[in-house]
Amino acid sequence: MTDRYAVVGNPVAHSKSPLIHAAFARQTHQDLYYEAILAPLDGFISAVEIFRQQGGKGMNITVPFKLQAHQLANELTERARVAQAVNTFKFENETILGDNTDGAGLIRDITANLNFPVYGKRVLLMGAGGASRGVILPLLQQQPALLAVANRTPRKALDLQQQFATHGQISAGGYLDFAGEQFDIIINATAASLNDDLPELPGDIFAAKALAYDMMYSTKPTRFLQYAAQRGAPHLADGIGMLVEQAAESFYLWRGIRPDTRAVIAQLRNSRN
Ligand code: ATR
Repeated sequence: MTDRYAVVGNPVAHSKSPLIHAAFARQTHQDLYYEAILAPLDGFISAVEIFRQQGGKGMNITVPFKLQAHQLANELTERARVAQAVNTFKFENETILGDNTDGAGLIRDITANLNFPVYGKRVLLMGAGGASRGVILPLLQQQPALLAVANRTPRKALDLQQQFATHGQISAGGYLDFAGEQFDIIINATAASLNDDLPELPGDIFAAKALAYDMMYSTKPTRFLQYAAQRGAPHLADGIGMLVEQAAESFYLWRGIRPDTRAVIAQLRNSRN
């Protein structure tokens, strides 16, 4: 019997996950079907239950349900517990295992695909919402020289600094608190790009060989990537690689096989142009 998987979200029609997992399944000769499920904003739990009762083996969870998914899971991986958000379920009998593959996806894209080590680098993480929280532990585990978290509302960055204090040292504040400092890797984890907006960054934060990374992606470069290019950042990346890598990490959790992500990243980029 074909194993069933799905991504659940609202909205979800734009999701590239069905395409990505179909490509992984073809490539690795896995017999599975992956669909998109639109859950009503107040209907996340019943959408999951129905899918489980129909024999579903696992799910990805996207906006706005990652926090509810964290609550619904009855087992959590460490990275999901620390992120306080779940983007992957694996169902086995009565167990709903919650995992969070976003951070691993980001790290793999930066270190393996872009060939940019995080170890020993100065890293600036922009934003202090769910997207940031999900990647802090994996970033700290790479042992950067410095991890700074900047946010429009500085209090939220300071809260994250406190919450992660047992995992490593973070420097936190508003964007302008980092004026005069330079970073090797600057990651935009804010929702600003969604609104074609840009956080108020100090002028010279990009080090000479800096990587500017936007976790968002769209058909044209985001405002942040345009700004980074104007400021001379030589390496620019959008979130397509992270999207495929987090999917690959979920696929591995479900199937025990690591798909080749490069071909799928290239396929997504081509289909966008
Ligand atoms: P997510 O779960 O996607 O991270 P979120 O929890 O709503 O979403 O967080 C959104 C993040 O983007 C926050 O860090 C937010 O900054 P505030 O905490 O100050 O609200 C940031 N953000 C959204 N729009 C922004 C903008 N136009 N400029 C700067 N930061 C912005």
